[in-house]
Formats: sequence, C-alpha cells, structure tokens
Amino acid sequence: MTDYRIAPSILSADFARLGEEVDAVLAAGADMVHFDVMDNHYVPNLTVGPLVCKALRDYGVTADIDVHLMVRPVDRIIPDFAEAGATWITFHPEATDHLDRSLQLVRDCGCKSGLVFNPATSLDHLRYVMDKIDMILLMSVNPGFGGQSFIPSTLAKLREARALIDASGRQIRLEVDGGIKVDNIAEAARAGADTFVAGSAIFGQPDYPTVIAAMRERLAI
Ligand code: DX5
Ligand code: ZN
Repeated sequence: MTDYRIAPSILSADFARLGEEVDAVLAAGADMVHFDVMDNHYVPNLTVGPLVCKALRDYGVTADIDVHLMVRPVDRIIPDFAEAGATWITFHPEATDHLDRSLQLVRDCGCKSGLVFNPATSLDHLRYVMDKIDMILLMSVNPGFGGQSFIPSTLAKLREARALIDASGRQIRLEVDGGIKVDNIAEAARAGADTFVAGSAIFGQPDYPTVIAAMRERLAI
C-alpha cells in the first residue's frame, strides 16, 4: 500500500488566521503543510518568508513543513528556512547557478531536499543529482498562483519521474502541485505521484475533513 500524503498549500488559507487554518487542515487529516514562498522575481507574486514559517512552529505546529521556494537565487534563503523549522526544502533548477551545491546546502542545514520542475522544464536536471534529493516535485501549473487548472501533460511526466525513481532504487517522494482536486487525484496517483499538494480544492471548501476524506477515498481505489 502506497504511503500517500496530502499537503494543503497555505497559499489559499486565510492568512489572518494562519495558525488556526493549519491546525484545522491537520485535524482534518492532512499529513503535512505545503508552504509556498514567492519572491515577485522568479515568479510574479509575493508571499511569505522564514518569519511566518517560524511563527507556525512557535504556534505549535509539529507536522512536516514542506517549503516550496519560488525564489531566485535560493542559496541565501535556505539556511534561514532551515532555522525557521522547515522539514523539506524544494527549489527550481532555474533558480540556482550551482544545482549540486544548493542541494547539498539543504542537506547540510538538516532538511530534506527536493527539486521542482515547471511544466516545460525537462527532468534532465535530475541526471547527476538523484543521490542528493529526497523529493521530486512536478508542477502541474505554471508557478505563481493558486486556483489554476491541472495541465494534462503532467501525467506523462509523472510516469517518467516514477520510472527514474524506481530505477534509482532510492526512497524519493514524488509530489504533484497545481490544480489537484478530488476529481483528478486518483489519476495523478496512478501516474506515480505519492504526495499531493492542494490549495484551493481544500481551503476553498468550508468543510476540510470532508474534502480530505474524499481525496483519500479516491486514493484507496
Ligand atoms: C503555485 C503553488 C501551488 C498552489 C497550488 O505556484 O506552488 O502550491 O498553491 O494551488 P492550487 O491547489 O489551488 O492549484
Ligand atoms: Zn507549491
């Protein structure tokens, strides 16, 4: 049985009540918190930084915090997020000049590392760094905003990434991010995903336990 994980993206949460929102999705059955960091430079939007990650830890959140950096350059901010309590730190290959060094930096800071691929970014970047990553994150929308539609070509790419993970023999999670809903989560799982980011599909509904339970039900088939 695959260990599926559901990671609500705080991008669609009510930021005025962020601690309560995170508590609510975790109590509703979520496994981890997806923390989208946008810099208005690498992506056309601006969100939150290490201070807010630390605030969630200080508030009492003990679940994994999955920090998705949409920031260029990445190296300066990696130690700050590690210090702020990040569990996972993922970034885009386009956002660093020295991919191997940045991945090593994440691990040296004590976090689990991952690479994020935009819809049109090739998985070739993985070729020499499979032993330095704990997660592959495939974007199924172009990064920058919540509430966009799932790009169908991601399914073939998920199958490609799953084959690379299986061939490596390593424990690497395969996360998918963007437009994931109750209606398409099973298809993403069949293509190889085991970790599912969902922002608007969860926070856009009044009853979080019902949506998360419906997602799990689709994953159980
Ligand atoms: C987009 C972010 C996503 C986003 C997903 O750049 O990386 O995590 O919040 O939102 P939904 O699930 O609404 O597509
Ligand atoms: Zn994200």
